[in-house]
Amino acid sequence: MKRIAVLTSGGDAPGMNAAIRAVVRTAIFYDMEIYGIYQGYAGLIEREIRRMDILSVDDIIHRGGTILDSSRSKYFMTRRGKEEAKKALEEFGIDALIVIGGDGSYRGALELSAMGVEVMCIPGTIDNDVSSTDYTIGFDTAVNTAVDAISKISDTSAAHNRGNVVQVMGRDTGYIALYAGIAGGAESVMLPEIEADLDGIYKKMLASKNMGKMHSISVVAEGAGEYMQIADDMFKHTGIETKGTNLGYIQRGGSPSAFDRILASVMGAMAVELVLKGQTNRAMSFKDGKYTHFDLSEAIGMKKELDSELYRIMNMISM
Ligand code: F6P
Repeated sequence: MKRIAVLTSGGDAPGMNAAIRAVVRTAIFYDMEIYGIYQGYAGLIEREIRRMDILSVDDIIHRGGTILDSSRSKYFMTRRGKEEAKKALEEFGIDALIVIGGDGSYRGALELSAMGVEVMCIPGTIDNDVSSTDYTIGFDTAVNTAVDAISKISDTSAAHNRGNVVQVMGRDTGYIALYAGIAGGAESVMLPEIEADLDGIYKKMLASKNMGKMHSISVVAEGAGEYMQIADDMFKHTGIETKGTNLGYIQRGGSPSAFDRILASVMGAMAVELVLKGQTNRAMSFKDGKYTHFDLSEAIGMKKELDSELYRIMNMISM
Protein backbone atom coordinates (compact mmCIF):
# COMPACT_ATOMS: atom_id res chain seq x y z
CA MET A 1 0.00 0.00 0.00
CA LYS A 2 1.21 3.48 -0.84
CA ARG A 3 1.36 6.04 1.92
CA ILE A 4 1.12 9.68 0.84
CA ALA A 5 0.98 13.06 2.56
CA VAL A 6 -0.43 16.44 1.63
CA LEU A 7 0.43 19.97 2.77
CA THR A 8 -0.52 23.53 1.87
CA SER A 9 2.23 26.13 1.68
CA GLY A 10 2.67 29.88 1.17
CA GLY A 11 -0.27 32.28 1.08
CA ASP A 12 -3.56 30.44 1.49
CA ALA A 13 -5.98 30.51 -1.42
CA PRO A 14 -9.70 29.74 -1.74
CA GLY A 15 -10.02 26.23 -3.13
CA MET A 16 -7.09 24.76 -1.22
CA ASN A 17 -9.59 22.87 0.93
CA ALA A 18 -11.30 21.49 -2.15
CA ALA A 19 -7.88 20.25 -3.34
CA ILE A 20 -7.11 18.63 0.04
CA ARG A 21 -10.52 16.96 -0.05
CA ALA A 22 -9.90 15.56 -3.53
CA VAL A 23 -6.45 14.25 -2.55
CA VAL A 24 -7.78 12.58 0.60
CA ARG A 25 -10.88 11.09 -1.01
CA THR A 26 -8.97 9.80 -4.05
CA ALA A 27 -6.28 8.24 -1.86
CA ILE A 28 -8.93 6.49 0.24
CA PHE A 29 -10.74 5.34 -2.90
CA TYR A 30 -7.53 3.53 -3.95
CA ASP A 31 -6.90 2.11 -0.45
CA MET A 32 -3.89 4.30 0.20
CA GLU A 33 -2.94 5.75 3.57
CA ILE A 34 -3.16 9.53 3.58
CA TYR A 35 -1.53 11.92 6.05
CA GLY A 36 -2.12 15.64 6.49
CA ILE A 37 0.88 17.82 7.31
CA TYR A 38 -0.11 20.92 9.29
CA GLN A 39 1.48 24.37 8.68
CA GLY A 40 3.26 23.61 5.46
CA TYR A 41 6.95 22.78 5.29
CA ALA A 42 7.47 24.19 8.83
CA GLY A 43 4.98 21.64 10.16
CA LEU A 44 6.69 18.86 8.23
CA ILE A 45 9.96 19.65 10.00
CA GLU A 46 8.08 19.80 13.33
CA ARG A 47 6.40 16.43 12.59
CA GLU A 48 2.90 17.96 12.62
CA ILE A 49 1.72 14.94 10.66
CA ARG A 50 -1.63 13.24 11.22
CA ARG A 51 -3.53 10.44 9.52
CA MET A 52 -6.60 11.64 7.62
CA ASP A 53 -9.82 9.83 6.85
CA ILE A 54 -13.01 10.50 4.89
CA LEU A 55 -14.49 12.59 7.70
CA SER A 56 -11.36 14.78 8.00
CA VAL A 57 -12.41 16.49 4.79
CA ASP A 58 -16.17 16.43 5.26
CA ASP A 59 -17.94 19.77 4.72
CA ILE A 60 -14.89 21.72 3.58
CA ILE A 61 -15.28 22.09 -0.20
CA HIS A 62 -17.01 25.45 0.24
CA ARG A 63 -14.65 26.87 2.87
CA GLY A 64 -11.85 29.37 2.27
CA GLY A 65 -8.49 29.12 4.02
CA THR A 66 -6.92 25.71 4.48
CA ILE A 67 -7.78 23.13 7.14
CA LEU A 68 -4.10 22.13 7.13
CA ASP A 69 -2.95 25.72 7.84
CA SER A 70 -0.07 27.23 5.94
CA SER A 71 3.27 28.96 6.51
CA ARG A 72 6.31 30.41 4.82
CA SER A 73 9.24 28.64 6.48
CA LYS A 74 12.66 30.31 6.35
CA TYR A 75 14.27 27.30 8.02
CA PHE A 76 12.95 24.96 5.33
CA MET A 77 14.79 27.05 2.74
CA THR A 78 18.11 26.04 4.32
CA ARG A 79 19.87 22.76 3.47
CA ARG A 80 19.42 21.55 7.05
CA GLY A 81 15.74 22.39 6.96
CA LYS A 82 15.22 20.30 3.85
CA GLU A 83 17.23 17.41 5.27
CA GLU A 84 15.00 17.51 8.37
CA ALA A 85 11.92 17.55 6.15
CA LYS A 86 13.17 14.50 4.24
CA LYS A 87 13.94 12.72 7.51
CA ALA A 88 10.41 13.41 8.80
CA LEU A 89 8.91 11.89 5.64
CA GLU A 90 11.11 8.82 6.03
CA GLU A 91 10.15 8.43 9.71
CA PHE A 92 6.48 8.35 8.72
CA GLY A 93 7.14 6.06 5.75
CA ILE A 94 5.67 8.54 3.29
CA ASP A 95 6.11 7.42 -0.33
CA ALA A 96 5.08 10.71 -1.93
CA LEU A 97 4.40 14.26 -0.82
CA ILE A 98 1.70 16.38 -2.45
CA VAL A 99 2.37 20.13 -2.15
CA ILE A 100 -0.42 22.63 -2.77
CA GLY A 101 1.04 26.12 -3.19
CA GLY A 102 2.59 28.73 -5.45
CA ASP A 103 5.91 29.39 -7.07
CA GLY A 104 8.01 29.36 -3.87
CA SER A 105 6.38 26.13 -2.69
CA TYR A 106 7.14 24.53 -6.07
CA ARG A 107 10.83 25.47 -5.74
CA GLY A 108 10.95 23.90 -2.27
CA ALA A 109 9.35 20.74 -3.68
CA LEU A 110 11.85 20.62 -6.55
CA GLU A 111 14.75 20.78 -4.10
CA LEU A 112 13.21 17.95 -2.08
CA SER A 113 12.82 15.90 -5.25
CA ALA A 114 16.52 16.45 -6.03
CA MET A 115 17.19 14.87 -2.62
CA GLY A 116 15.21 11.79 -3.60
CA VAL A 117 11.76 12.66 -2.24
CA GLU A 118 8.84 11.87 -4.58
CA VAL A 119 6.76 15.04 -4.86
CA MET A 120 3.68 16.28 -6.71
CA CYS A 121 2.70 19.94 -7.04
CA ILE A 122 -0.77 21.45 -7.29
CA PRO A 123 -0.93 25.19 -8.10
CA GLY A 124 -2.69 27.03 -5.26
CA THR A 125 -2.28 30.81 -5.03
CA ILE A 126 -4.47 33.82 -5.71
CA ASP A 127 -1.61 35.45 -7.68
CA ASN A 128 -1.86 33.12 -10.72
CA ASP A 129 1.93 33.36 -10.97
CA VAL A 130 2.65 29.67 -11.58
CA SER A 131 3.94 29.57 -15.16
CA SER A 132 3.07 25.98 -15.99
CA THR A 133 -0.69 26.50 -15.68
CA ASP A 134 -3.07 29.06 -17.15
CA TYR A 135 -5.00 29.21 -13.88
CA THR A 136 -4.06 28.56 -10.27
CA ILE A 137 -6.54 27.51 -7.58
CA GLY A 138 -7.83 30.64 -5.82
CA PHE A 139 -7.23 33.15 -8.61
CA ASP A 140 -10.79 33.10 -9.94
CA THR A 141 -12.26 33.59 -6.46
CA ALA A 142 -9.85 36.45 -5.68
CA VAL A 143 -10.76 38.16 -8.95
CA ASN A 144 -14.47 37.81 -8.17
CA THR A 145 -13.92 39.23 -4.68
CA ALA A 146 -12.03 42.18 -6.16
CA VAL A 147 -14.72 42.75 -8.81
CA ASP A 148 -17.43 42.75 -6.16
CA ALA A 149 -15.48 45.35 -4.16
CA ILE A 150 -14.80 47.47 -7.27
CA SER A 151 -18.52 47.52 -8.10
CA LYS A 152 -19.27 48.85 -4.62
CA ILE A 153 -16.50 51.43 -4.83
CA SER A 154 -17.81 52.47 -8.28
CA ASP A 155 -21.23 53.20 -6.78
CA THR A 156 -19.91 55.59 -4.19
CA SER A 157 -17.33 57.11 -6.55
CA ALA A 158 -20.09 57.94 -9.04
CA ALA A 159 -22.30 59.39 -6.30
CA HIS A 160 -19.52 61.76 -5.20
CA ASN A 161 -17.85 62.37 -8.57
CA ARG A 162 -14.58 61.02 -7.26
CA GLY A 163 -11.75 58.91 -8.48
CA ASN A 164 -10.67 55.85 -6.56
CA VAL A 165 -7.43 53.94 -6.79
CA VAL A 166 -8.00 50.31 -5.81
CA GLN A 167 -4.95 48.32 -4.79
CA VAL A 168 -5.08 44.58 -5.35
CA MET A 169 -2.67 41.75 -4.52
CA GLY A 170 -0.59 39.72 -6.95
CA ARG A 171 2.97 40.01 -5.63
CA ASP A 172 5.12 40.74 -8.74
CA THR A 173 2.37 40.00 -11.22
CA GLY A 174 -0.66 41.88 -12.52
CA TYR A 175 -3.11 39.04 -13.19
CA ILE A 176 -5.58 39.98 -10.45
CA ALA A 177 -5.38 43.67 -11.41
CA LEU A 178 -5.90 43.04 -15.13
CA TYR A 179 -8.77 40.57 -14.76
CA ALA A 180 -10.49 42.56 -12.00
CA GLY A 181 -9.94 45.79 -13.94
CA ILE A 182 -11.57 44.54 -17.12
CA ALA A 183 -14.43 42.77 -15.30
CA GLY A 184 -14.96 45.69 -12.93
CA GLY A 185 -15.18 48.24 -15.76
CA ALA A 186 -12.19 50.18 -14.43
CA GLU A 187 -10.97 53.24 -16.29
CA SER A 188 -7.34 52.15 -15.98
CA VAL A 189 -5.14 49.38 -14.64
CA MET A 190 -1.51 49.55 -13.53
CA LEU A 191 0.53 46.37 -13.73
CA PRO A 192 4.13 45.49 -12.83
CA GLU A 193 4.67 43.89 -16.25
CA ILE A 194 3.75 46.95 -18.37
CA GLU A 195 4.89 50.48 -17.66
CA ALA A 196 1.84 52.65 -17.06
CA ASP A 197 1.28 55.61 -19.37
CA LEU A 198 0.44 58.01 -16.55
CA ASP A 199 0.06 61.04 -18.84
CA GLY A 200 -2.32 59.02 -20.99
CA ILE A 201 -4.34 58.06 -17.91
CA TYR A 202 -4.54 61.70 -16.71
CA LYS A 203 -5.54 62.83 -20.22
CA LYS A 204 -8.29 60.22 -20.32
CA MET A 205 -9.55 61.35 -16.91
CA LEU A 206 -9.58 64.99 -18.07
CA ALA A 207 -11.34 64.07 -21.33
CA SER A 208 -14.00 62.22 -19.31
CA LYS A 209 -14.31 65.20 -16.97
CA ASN A 210 -14.87 67.50 -19.97
CA MET A 211 -17.64 65.18 -21.11
CA GLY A 212 -19.23 65.42 -17.64
CA LYS A 213 -17.97 62.15 -16.15
CA MET A 214 -16.00 62.88 -13.00
CA HIS A 215 -15.59 59.45 -11.47
CA SER A 216 -13.04 56.82 -12.35
CA ILE A 217 -11.56 53.63 -10.95
CA SER A 218 -7.95 52.71 -11.36
CA VAL A 219 -6.94 49.17 -10.35
CA VAL A 220 -3.31 48.99 -9.25
CA ALA A 221 -1.41 45.76 -8.71
CA GLU A 222 0.63 45.78 -5.50
CA GLY A 223 3.79 45.39 -7.58
CA ALA A 224 2.98 48.45 -9.72
CA GLY A 225 2.93 51.23 -7.14
CA GLU A 226 1.48 52.51 -3.90
CA TYR A 227 -2.20 53.36 -4.15
CA MET A 228 -2.27 56.50 -1.95
CA GLN A 229 0.68 58.01 -3.82
CA ILE A 230 -1.02 57.27 -7.14
CA ALA A 231 -4.29 58.78 -5.87
CA ASP A 232 -2.46 61.97 -4.77
CA ASP A 233 -0.75 62.28 -8.16
CA MET A 234 -4.07 61.82 -9.95
CA PHE A 235 -5.64 64.63 -7.95
CA LYS A 236 -2.64 66.90 -8.64
CA HIS A 237 -2.79 66.27 -12.39
CA THR A 238 -6.56 66.24 -12.95
CA GLY A 239 -8.13 68.18 -10.10
CA ILE A 240 -10.53 65.25 -9.58
CA GLU A 241 -10.80 64.30 -5.93
CA THR A 242 -9.29 60.81 -5.73
CA LYS A 243 -9.52 58.38 -2.83
CA GLY A 244 -7.62 55.15 -2.31
CA THR A 245 -8.71 51.68 -1.20
CA ASN A 246 -6.47 48.74 -0.44
CA LEU A 247 -8.47 45.51 -0.81
CA GLY A 248 -5.83 43.59 1.15
CA TYR A 249 -6.49 40.20 2.66
CA ILE A 250 -10.18 39.97 1.80
CA GLN A 251 -8.88 38.74 -1.57
CA ARG A 252 -7.41 35.67 0.09
CA GLY A 253 -10.52 34.57 1.95
CA GLY A 254 -14.06 33.53 1.19
CA SER A 255 -15.88 30.59 -0.29
CA PRO A 256 -14.18 29.39 -3.50
CA SER A 257 -15.91 29.89 -6.83
CA ALA A 258 -17.25 26.85 -8.71
CA PHE A 259 -14.35 27.21 -11.14
CA ASP A 260 -11.77 27.00 -8.34
CA ARG A 261 -13.56 24.06 -6.70
CA ILE A 262 -13.57 22.12 -9.98
CA LEU A 263 -9.93 22.98 -10.75
CA ALA A 264 -8.94 21.86 -7.24
CA SER A 265 -11.00 18.66 -7.36
CA VAL A 266 -9.61 17.52 -10.71
CA MET A 267 -6.01 18.42 -9.89
CA GLY A 268 -6.18 16.76 -6.47
CA ALA A 269 -7.50 13.52 -7.95
CA MET A 270 -5.05 13.69 -10.86
CA ALA A 271 -2.04 14.07 -8.52
CA VAL A 272 -2.97 10.95 -6.54
CA GLU A 273 -3.71 8.87 -9.63
CA LEU A 274 -0.32 9.83 -11.10
CA VAL A 275 1.42 8.72 -7.88
CA LEU A 276 -0.34 5.36 -8.24
CA LYS A 277 0.96 5.05 -11.80
CA GLY A 278 4.48 5.77 -10.52
CA GLN A 279 4.60 9.16 -12.25
CA THR A 280 6.00 11.52 -9.61
CA ASN A 281 7.78 14.87 -9.58
CA ARG A 282 4.99 16.31 -11.74
CA ALA A 283 3.21 19.68 -11.67
CA MET A 284 -0.55 19.67 -12.24
CA SER A 285 -1.76 22.11 -14.85
CA PHE A 286 -4.78 23.48 -16.69
CA LYS A 287 -3.50 24.69 -20.04
CA ASP A 288 -5.29 25.69 -23.23
CA GLY A 289 -8.56 24.43 -21.79
CA LYS A 290 -7.23 20.97 -20.82
CA TYR A 291 -5.96 19.32 -17.66
CA THR A 292 -2.39 18.15 -18.02
CA HIS A 293 0.86 17.78 -16.06
CA PHE A 294 4.53 18.59 -16.54
CA ASP A 295 7.83 17.43 -15.18
CA LEU A 296 8.41 19.67 -12.13
CA SER A 297 11.77 21.12 -13.17
CA GLU A 298 10.43 21.79 -16.67
CA ALA A 299 7.36 23.45 -15.12
CA ILE A 300 9.48 25.74 -12.95
CA GLY A 301 11.58 26.78 -15.94
CA MET A 302 8.50 27.88 -17.94
CA LYS A 303 7.62 31.52 -18.55
CA LYS A 304 4.08 32.86 -18.54
CA GLU A 305 3.23 36.10 -20.31
CA LEU A 306 0.44 38.37 -19.16
CA ASP A 307 -2.25 38.60 -21.84
CA SER A 308 -1.30 41.84 -23.60
CA GLU A 309 -4.39 41.56 -25.82
CA LEU A 310 -6.58 41.72 -22.72
CA TYR A 311 -4.65 44.82 -21.63
CA ARG A 312 -5.13 46.43 -25.05
CA ILE A 313 -8.88 45.75 -25.04
CA MET A 314 -9.20 46.96 -21.45
CA ASN A 315 -7.65 50.30 -22.42
CA MET A 316 -9.66 50.57 -25.65
CA ILE A 317 -13.06 50.12 -24.03
CA SER A 318 -12.46 52.08 -20.82
CA MET A 319 -13.43 55.73 -20.67
O1 F6P B 1 0.93 35.04 -2.63
C1 F6P B 1 -0.30 35.50 -2.16
C2 F6P B 1 -0.14 36.86 -1.53
O2 F6P B 1 -1.40 37.24 -1.01
C3 F6P B 1 0.43 37.95 -2.45
O3 F6P B 1 -0.55 38.47 -3.31
C4 F6P B 1 0.94 38.93 -1.44
O4 F6P B 1 2.00 39.69 -2.00
C5 F6P B 1 1.44 38.05 -0.34
O5 F6P B 1 0.78 36.81 -0.48
C6 F6P B 1 1.20 38.55 1.06
O6 F6P B 1 1.82 37.66 1.92
P1 F6P B 1 1.64 37.60 3.50
O7 F6P B 1 0.50 36.70 3.79
O8 F6P B 1 2.93 37.02 3.97
O9 F6P B 1 1.39 39.00 3.95
